[in-house]
Amino acid sequence: MAWFCWSLLVCIVMIASTVNGQRMFPGQCGMSHPCAQICKNVPGMGRVKCECESGHILAANGFLCISEEDETIDIDAETSPTEAVVTVSEETVDKAKDQQGSGGQEMEGSGSGTDEDGEQETGSGEEIHVPSPMVLCQDFECQNGGTCYVDVVMDKAMCRCTEGFKGDRCAESVVIPPTTCEGFECQNAGTCYINGETSRASCHCPLGYEGEMCKQTVAIKFPSFQSHSYMEFSSPLGLYRTFQVRVDFKPETLDGLLLFCGEQDSTDKDYFSLGLVDGKMQFKYDLGGTAPGIITSAVTVSLGKWHTVTINRDNWDGWIQVDQEKPVKGKSKGLYSKLTLRSPLYLGGHSNYTAISQTSISTGFSGCVERLVINNVDSDMRLEPRGFAVGGVDVGECSSGLCDEGMCSNGGSCVAQSASRYLCLCPLGTAGPTCEKDVLLHIPSFNGSSHLVHQSLGKNHLSFLEIEVIFRPHQPTGMLLYSGQKFERAGDFVSLGMSEGHVEFRFDCGSGPAVLRTTEPVSLNEWHIAIASRTARDGTLQVDKRRVLSGMAEGAFTQLTFAGDLYIGGVDDASHVSKKAEMSTSFVGDIQKVIINDKPLDLIDDAIRGANVMNADHPCVDQPCQNRGECAAQHATYSCQCPLWYQGINCEEDIEGIVEVPSFQGSSYLRFTSDWVLKRVGGQDDNIQLEFRTWSSDGLILWMGRDVMKSTSDFMALGLDNGMLKWSYNLGGGPVSILTNQTFNDGEWHTVSMQRQGASGTLMIDQREGLMATAPGPMKSLDINNGLYLGGMKDVAELSFKRYTIGFLGCIRNVMLEGDKLDLYQDPSEGRNVNHCA
Ligand SMILES: *[C@@H]1O[C@H](CO)[C@@H](O)[C@H](O)[C@H]1NC(C)=O
Ligand SMILES: *[C@@H]1O[C@H](CO)[C@@H](O)[C@H](O)[C@H]1NC(C)=O
Ligand SMILES: *[C@@H]1O[C@H](CO)[C@@H](O)[C@H](O)[C@H]1NC(C)=O
Repeated sequence: MAWFCWSLLVCIVMIASTVNGQRMFPGQCGMSHPCAQICKNVPGMGRVKCECESGHILAANGFLCISEEDETIDIDAETSPTEAVVTVSEETVDKAKDQQGSGGQEMEGSGSGTDEDGEQETGSGEEIHVPSPMVLCQDFECQNGGTCYVDVVMDKAMCRCTEGFKGDRCAESVVIPPTTCEGFECQNAGTCYINGETSRASCHCPLGYEGEMCKQTVAIKFPSFQSHSYMEFSSPLGLYRTFQVRVDFKPETLDGLLLFCGEQDSTDKDYFSLGLVDGKMQFKYDLGGTAPGIITSAVTVSLGKWHTVTINRDNWDGWIQVDQEKPVKGKSKGLYSKLTLRSPLYLGGHSNYTAISQTSISTGFSGCVERLVINNVDSDMRLEPRGFAVGGVDVGECSSGLCDEGMCSNGGSCVAQSASRYLCLCPLGTAGPTCEKDVLLHIPSFNGSSHLVHQSLGKNHLSFLEIEVIFRPHQPTGMLLYSGQKFERAGDFVSLGMSEGHVEFRFDCGSGPAVLRTTEPVSLNEWHIAIASRTARDGTLQVDKRRVLSGMAEGAFTQLTFAGDLYIGGVDDASHVSKKAEMSTSFVGDIQKVIINDKPLDLIDDAIRGANVMNADHPCVDQPCQNRGECAAQHATYSCQCPLWYQGINCEEDIEGIVEVPSFQGSSYLRFTSDWVLKRVGGQDDNIQLEFRTWSSDGLILWMGRDVMKSTSDFMALGLDNGMLKWSYNLGGGPVSILTNQTFNDGEWHTVSMQRQGASGTLMIDQREGLMATAPGPMKSLDINNGLYLGGMKDVAELSFKRYTIGFLGCIRNVMLEGDKLDLYQDPSEGRNVNHCA
């Protein structure tokens, strides 16, 4: 039964949910639980978590306990496994079996696929023998004579290698470095030196590489330094009279240089330095005078703890502050008050301590740096072009390993948010610090680490783009929408966002951005609508009912190319965003609607992916519409789109009786897709008659078209345009329209007859003489595939290619197709908000 138990063991671990790093299992203490020692019920969840008696610690699998003295247990594959007896409820086993069915990769090639004992492993409360983790070693081969053991704390098989080998599986041979650099080739432009401790050749690795031979790449975001490391940033500008620099750091030793910058790469001329001297922070600056400023903090830093140091200089005066302690002030003497800086800014050390001997620090900093803020600008410590670092030596990443363990459940991915904090990016439909909660999303809310990704805008929006967004900000700055070229910080893009309360629309066709920004900020915590559009190089932006702003992009290019995805509320990696968008903060707030070129996006269902999206505080989230009615958010309120033959604010009422004459309210429609109807519309000719009554001057009465409309697609439409009746159709050769020069929104019944034979059509109203027209082109047939709509459509503007923007308001009766009467009550395949005509 080994493989089964093995897979079951894995499955138990897989179905266990994690809260704050502690695994939980289905079941109840006292009946069925997997805990080796102490079981605790988790209130209200039907789950248990395990604890261990004193002197023991809980293994990573969440149910075994390990003696504290003996954290790892060696297991020889030959000896018989010690079995942990685990009672598993039926639910657990069923789930475990489901897991086997779907995620079968755990079992592949590791057994016959049946239980050797032939036992059925189901049944409530049945005992299942979960073998000790030694099975983990069964398929784990250590090479070159290495032996497998299980690290019980990590719940992982590992190899103990024989001398001369290393690696996960002991596959790599250990090269014992020579005592000279001759023939010792550091990779990736690393430089060889003789390590003082080992007296053997070793490599200094350039920024971005690590390892003995600098073979491994490392992405630096929160740098970690050893005493011989340093990082370089290009010389900071604008610091010559005053500056303020803040560093957040965690020291591992009491001495070391944290910052250096000078007129030269030495202390011969102007410079400033900041470092640890005997545990105190020392700030020195020499403006070329008789006595440099030397300011030393009163407090001593604690090793292994995070600290913040801020240094400030204003001409001759300076001060230093460590954490919340009182700032210490100082002064430099001399004629000059300006500090000339031309060398790179060094962080964490320097390349030549002899050259900077005046700093009286002769070693680099050891520890981590999380933030570097210069004159209120956060320095992105990643390597160019993503960040500002230009070089460095022997720099590691502080957050590495932070996300190694499966911190996030439900498929969430872990990212280092700082040197010591991780953040779960929870897939759509999950939430919580470790993605442990399930949420049914309705109206997305973004918390600053969230985003939604939709398909690229593609080629349809090359020269014209209109974006409408309904949003409620909780913070004054953040990205609402972005689309650009993939993985490029330059090139075409369009962005809509908020910057200190102002709504900003930017686009760049490749030769310089247009920036449209509202003059007044918008209020927080209230719904707003922003409509941004661009036609070639011209852009407009309107927010709420305010004045329309317009602006123009630079250069000669007029077409935008969007190769990348469309991001809403934020991006997964800010380094993909064009620098010209100046938008690095994600949105905090709610987004109710995004409409692009008249097409409303289904924000949740059409998303390709997303992270950390929650529900907004909105009545639609409580699903107020009954009988499968759809909740349509309207800023802070909502309306229900009621399915056929339901009515009421929440679609709670049945419509009584047979609706022979339906009434439509602008958001309503009836759709017919039955064969009976389809046989009688479209094709070579049409003969449609109907009666209508309305007081409204605009709206779509009848529509036939295609499910994806383009400007050239076939369609036929009847509607009101300023009270006049308009009949139009396109057979593929171009549209033709007949517009009456009389208004019909008089509340009286009118009869319309539409007769089409091939390209020629006759429109007759109230039995008067017909108006005639012929469609251009040789085509004779109306080619439609989307049924017949009466009174409107679901998304009128999108499906009619903006020929109409609202549905019909009034009543329709006696619809005749080729002389046969259409049953408006029985025949519709769908519809909404339709009622009896009063
Ligand atoms: C370090 O600086 C000193 C003094 O400026 C110089 O003489 C020496 O050559 C430098 N060392 C290296 C390795 O550049
Ligand atoms: C956003 O939501 C995620 C998941 O629900 C959570 O882990 C994270 O801490 C939140 N971030 C902020 C800034 O509130
Ligand atoms: C428009 O109205 C005028 C007068 O009412 C009429 O003579 C003319 O024929 C009408 N034109 C059309 C196209 O209906």
